[in-house]
Amino acid sequence: MKTIFSGIQPSGDLNIGNYLGAIINWNKLQEEFNCIYCVVDMHAITVKQVPMDLRNRTYKTLATYIACGLDPDKNVLFVQSHVPAHAELAWILGCSTMFGELSRMTQFKDKSAKNEQNINAGLFTYPVLMAADILLYQADLVPVGQDQKQHIELTRDVAERFNAVYGETFIVPEGYIPKIGTKIMSLVEPEKKMSKSDENPNSYIALLDSRDVIIKRFKRAVTDSDTSVRFADGKDGINNLMTIYSCFTGKSFDDIEKGFDGRGYGDFKSAVGEVVADGLAPVQKKIGELMGDKAYLEGIMKKGAESASRIASKTLAKIQKRVGFVV
Ligand code: TYM
Repeated sequence: MKTIFSGIQPSGDLNIGNYLGAIINWNKLQEEFNCIYCVVDMHAITVKQVPMDLRNRTYKTLATYIACGLDPDKNVLFVQSHVPAHAELAWILGCSTMFGELSRMTQFKDKSAKNEQNINAGLFTYPVLMAADILLYQADLVPVGQDQKQHIELTRDVAERFNAVYGETFIVPEGYIPKIGTKIMSLVEPEKKMSKSDENPNSYIALLDSRDVIIKRFKRAVTDSDTSVRFADGKDGINNLMTIYSCFTGKSFDDIEKGFDGRGYGDFKSAVGEVVADGLAPVQKKIGELMGDKAYLEGIMKKGAESASRIASKTLAKIQKRVGFVV
């Protein structure tokens, strides 16, 4: 059975970009594959975090995985810092990763432009830790949004380079990036991706936003001066809203265009707000319940870390031997 690995940073409140671009697709994979999903808290500290908030969001991210339908009995769900092999493999892989290739990572360039006071070494070597996350579990497929494509390519390059020097060791993973929903854009600047670390809360819909907030934010979403609801070049705002509407209702762009023919943007924006609020309501309820039972979440974390460690320590021992450590 093929292995799937993916993760989300608990660096902010998860938004509908993370939901549609990642978690929804993870849900579809859990029946057919051996799936491992991680809350990548070590990645989150590459930008400044308030420790108490990070801890709380780590619980909340795990609760969100479960609330969105990931069954803890069918998937390995765990927290990255609970499995030290991630950091150990990252060191070894860092010695097979070039300074030049890390310098070309667009996420590093974007984040260092945003955090000029804190361009730390972790931010730079972040993709090496991500490669370690994936390669440690010999993952075949990595379901992510489009913004992670470059990191997956780097992971493949590092795995191939390691295999060429030390002999076939790693499975070279593939990204799994469906066409629709894997690049949800900001509601305020629709040419930019929706991000959980955006300073402007009007730019995103967090999974726990209230119905009123959701409807208000969609009403205010930036569109264009045209009035007809149709998917076309140059209509980034409307294209984004149509994508979101399509993901939540399963309707095609054709059906949406027909359904809103002759009606203005105002009607459409209200409809998008309604379907998103309706779609998120059961997830919100479940997250609330799970967050009220920390002991249950800790039990899942513990069980997940044990399962993950079993797989990870086997791969790590093999790699340590290959590079010449005394094991
Ligand atoms: P992160 O935490 O930024 O995002 C988590 C997942 O959500 C996707 N995503 C989006 N999809 C659609 N539209 C958007 N606007 C949007 N914003 C985010 C991301 O592509 C991602 O799939 N480096 C990763 C975390 C990571 C990881 C890994 C992922 C660490 N190790 C190993 C896979 C495998 C990140 O920062 O994701």
